[in-house]
Amino acid sequence: MAFPSVSILITSSFLLLSFFSNALTSPKAFIFPIRKDGATNQYYTTIQIGSNATTLNVGIDLGGNFLWFNSLDYFSAADSYRPILCGTNQCRIANGVGCVFCFLSPPVPGCTNNTCSDYALNPFTGTQVYSGLGQDVLRVSSTRATQYEVKRFPFQFSPYPDFREGLATSTVGLLALGRTRVSLPSQLSSAFKISDKFALCIPSSGGNGNMIIGDEVYRKPFQQISEAIQTTPLLRNPVSNSGNEVVGNLSIAYFIDVKSIRVGETSLALNKTLLSINKRTGEGGTSIRTVRAYTSLHRSIYRAVVDEFVKAAAAKNIKRVASVAPFGACFDSRTISSSKTGADVPTVDLVLQSSSVYWRFYGSNSMVRVGDRVMCLAFVEGPPNLSGPTTSIVVGGYQLENHLLEFDVSASKLGFSSTLLLSDTSCNQFGAA
Ligand SMILES: *[C@@H]1O[C@H](CO)[C@@H](O)[C@H](O)[C@H]1NC(C)=O
Ligand SMILES: *[C@@H]1O[C@H](CO)[C@@H](O)[C@H](O)[C@H]1NC(C)=O
Ligand SMILES: *[C@@H]1O[C@H](CO)[C@@H](O)[C@H](O)[C@H]1NC(C)=O
Ligand SMILES: *[C@@H]1O[C@H](CO)[C@@H](O)[C@H](O)[C@H]1NC(C)=O
Ligand SMILES: *[C@@H]1O[C@H](CO)[C@@H](O)[C@H](O)[C@H]1NC(C)=O
Repeated sequence: MAFPSVSILITSSFLLLSFFSNALTSPKAFIFPIRKDGATNQYYTTIQIGSNATTLNVGIDLGGNFLWFNSLDYFSAADSYRPILCGTNQCRIANGVGCVFCFLSPPVPGCTNNTCSDYALNPFTGTQVYSGLGQDVLRVSSTRATQYEVKRFPFQFSPYPDFREGLATSTVGLLALGRTRVSLPSQLSSAFKISDKFALCIPSSGGNGNMIIGDEVYRKPFQQISEAIQTTPLLRNPVSNSGNEVVGNLSIAYFIDVKSIRVGETSLALNKTLLSINKRTGEGGTSIRTVRAYTSLHRSIYRAVVDEFVKAAAAKNIKRVASVAPFGACFDSRTISSSKTGADVPTVDLVLQSSSVYWRFYGSNSMVRVGDRVMCLAFVEGPPNLSGPTTSIVVGGYQLENHLLEFDVSASKLGFSSTLLLSDTSCNQFGAA
């Protein structure tokens, strides 16, 4: 009779052990640093890829499809690179549009045979490159500072160095966060069975922010900020709005439903057709893009915002001066006082699903210094002239800085805080508890 009881004891302590080791090893969330490149106003992070963990700086593209880069450091050490072959499940997940046959012996990244392929987009120049997709080990760091590996992380090694044109000189490609199955959040979510959500906290110049992918308790005061966050539905544009974004013809960028714009106390009279997404053409609506330095507004919206802002600024005795391109409203900074939330100017609100849900921009996000004595309204007339239907409002990086943004992809919801400056903090402090 002694034998069975011993065996039960062994079994249960074994279960206990494996329970603890799982609790210790299965991550809940991953963290990536975010920095801003001062010369280009681009935001980038650092990744480690390949068996030798080549370290690369890559721009962050909220609306991007997949990771792409061009790096000789990686190329010369890419012994663990494997192509994604045509007709495979991975090719289907990547939504590859074709197959390339490239014969080099031995094969190298960018030239492998029978390879699932797609277009990568450079959103700064609007150019696209068609090339094979591959996979390699991606090393990631959990919010508990433990290293993990995504064994077969999909990406495109772009064989053309010229394709990096327009990117910050310290970066070699772009990391995608868009609504695809091969974006970083989606890959981490499926590899580690964590929530398909991510929090972005984008720093202003000189700062260091963070992105947290998954579910995590934030450190003070971010947990409190997150609990009080406002939310708005994330919309999908049924028409892909750039050549390579064809994923069942749904745009992979994140859209929100801006119903009106308020400057100071005044609601602007705007063309409602421009504010909503045209389901047939994909035109109109509001997207959020980290690859745009400043929010761009369709001409008629831009005019209305500038006119009202100039009027409301004049009422605060702020003196207008000659415009400095690309901005359409500039002011003598000596006539602007400062406050906890930056330059003390009229607020600009993007009003969402109801008049009580709005994304407010204070001076720290609405005014940019362009000279000793000149500050300008940090919105531009847009959109940038790239292919695809025209999005009326593209919320750009300067407006995102020092806000906590939570993209809950599976619930299709965006959480956005007020400027962190109101809580006496900034993205420099953002992290896990
Ligand atoms: C990877 O790193 C190891 C150790 O530093 C080195 O010996 C090896 O040559 C590297 N491999 C490649 C392909 O660079
Ligand atoms: C390339 O792949 C195709 C399809 O698998 C195959 O038919 C062909 O023989 C391969 N060519 C070379 C040079 O390996
Ligand atoms: C995507 O759009 C193209 C061109 O308009 C059309 O031919 C195709 O059927 C659409 N695909 C889906 C999945 O809707
Ligand atoms: C509103 O915008 C749409 C789309 O650009 C345009 O066709 C329409 O004429 C505009 N309406 C007014 C009243 O300006
Ligand atoms: C936009 O680009 C197209 C194609 O390059 C060009 O024909 C058109 O003139 C451009 N429009 C503007 C407003 O620059």
